Amino acid sequence: MAKVAVFNQKGGVGKTTTALNLAALLARRGADPLIIDLDPQAHLTAICDVNVAAPERSLYGYFSVGASLAGLIKLAGGGLKIIPSHLDLAKVDTLFGKGPNALNRLNYGILKENLNTDRPIIMDACPMLGVLSLNSVFAADRVLVPISTDYLSIKGALQTERTLKALEQVLKKRIERRFLLTRFDRRRKMSWAIDRQMRERFGADVCETRIAENVSLAESPFHNRSVFGHAPESRGARDYTALLDELQICGFLG
Ligand SMILES: Nc1ncnc2c1ncn2[C@@H]1O[C@H](COP(=O)(O)OP(=O)(O)OP(=O)(O)O)[C@@H](O)[C@H]1O
Ligand SMILES: [Mg+2]
Repeated sequence: MAKVAVFNQKGGVGKTTTALNLAALLARRGADPLIIDLDPQAHLTAICDVNVAAPERSLYGYFSVGASLAGLIKLAGGGLKIIPSHLDLAKVDTLFGKGPNALNRLNYGILKENLNTDRPIIMDACPMLGVLSLNSVFAADRVLVPISTDYLSIKGALQTERTLKALEQVLKKRIERRFLLTRFDRRRKMSWAIDRQMRERFGADVCETRIAENVSLAESPFHNRSVFGHAPESRGARDYTALLDELQICGFLG
């Protein structure tokens, strides 16, 4: 099934919010998704309220001592399964080289353990471009790029597009991607201008669905919940439902 990396080298654009809510809705639809938290900030791990007893019990254990990925899976609320992160995961960027083997490690483990034979995998990447975030792209068959509609968003989108193009040369295949406008405020002219520029520049690679700025999306992590557990009638829940519908219909997250 699909392996999707939620990736943008720019920080604070809605990667974690998007990974959490897409996975939560997939779980509600009975798809048994697996989240992999590749960000040493471990925001998604914290939102899922998962306790990691030692660094080796997180994804770091796979990279540092070769722990099995399946053995690292934890059960979170709402039927979500997650391979958690830990601050020590930051060491991966310096401990291991940047050669193809280092960048392919997660991909190798997922394939070896048949982790996604009957479940989709959603990977939450960290905002820096390094070994960890590139592992998510190498392991993915599709990349979802959240773009928050602020004034630096187009710059972040172009940077990420350049990175994906460079990786396509290495991987010798096209990386299927979709850009997703997040934190969209329809009262702001800037949001509409960014929407127009993104669609002119990236065409069909931009999701039709936009995720609006929404207080329930911002507050639900505080309650260790997805927006569907916290405020199922909210605008945020409606937007992420529309997004998953769109991604499933076009086969991006089939
Ligand atoms: N549509 C939205 N409406 C309101 N707040 C949002 C929305 N999307 C994200 N946020 C909030 O914006 C902040 C950044 O979002 P998030 O953590 O998802 O971004 P990120 O790209 O994962 O950040 P990082 O690069 O640090 O990992 C969070 O406080 C989150 O709750
Ligand atoms: Mg994040």
